[in-house]
Amino acid sequence: MNQKEAAARRALDYVKSGMILGLGSGSTAAYFVDMLGVMVSSGELTDIQGIPTSRATAERAREWGIPLTTLAENPILDLAVDGADEVDPNLNLIKGLGRAALREKIVESHAKRLIIIVDESKIVDKLGRGPLPVEIIQFEHETHIRWLRSLGCKAELWLEDDGSPIVTDNGNYLVRCWFADGIGDADRLSMTLSTRPGIVGHGLFLNMADTIIVAGNEGVQIIGQS
Ligand code: A5P
Repeated sequence: MNQKEAAARRALDYVKSGMILGLGSGSTAAYFVDMLGVMVSSGELTDIQGIPTSRATAERAREWGIPLTTLAENPILDLAVDGADEVDPNLNLIKGLGRAALREKIVESHAKRLIIIVDESKIVDKLGRGPLPVEIIQFEHETHIRWLRSLGCKAELWLEDDGSPIVTDNGNYLVRCWFADGIGDADRLSMTLSTRPGIVGHGLFLNMADTIIVAGNEGVQIIGQS
């Protein structure tokens, strides 16, 4: 079993029959959805309903026969489980390199508890080791990118292999922002990004995660609420 799979497996200990679950996106969350699917289809877990954070996750859950619902029908989730790109010592996160941060943030902000499943490579001292994904609307996108650069980062439109802009499930573009010395004040940056017209989402998930499940060579470790 690889580390992502080991972290995902441990998260299943927190799932009980009858729960409304936020289903994350990305490769680690995919292991979780697959394992959940096995338990749902075998009848080991019953009355589970999932709210997916991307079209890909919705498709995966449907293939397993995991019943899906919406925030409109069920605005309070018992638990959400998702991966992350970076986790800092205060349990703050960068997410979204799987292109789904906006829906992830919408769904996971409705969860009573957010569990993040990662391999140990995702643990950082300071956020911003890698790029921060930012979702922008297509209209006047060059202007939004120029404004992002004015924050002191290298901001580039995120492209598919064929050179066309990546379009999210929400019909928007994505920009990746590199901060040379990492992100000094993540709270301030998050606030600044949130007030700018044309920017519809970003990958800073601050004060959202309750528990981090980290899988490493030495085994699986729980950080935060056990
Ligand atoms: C999806 O948009 C992301 O937030 C993922 O949770 C994150 O990119 C981690 O992805 P992996 O589990 O594939 O590393």
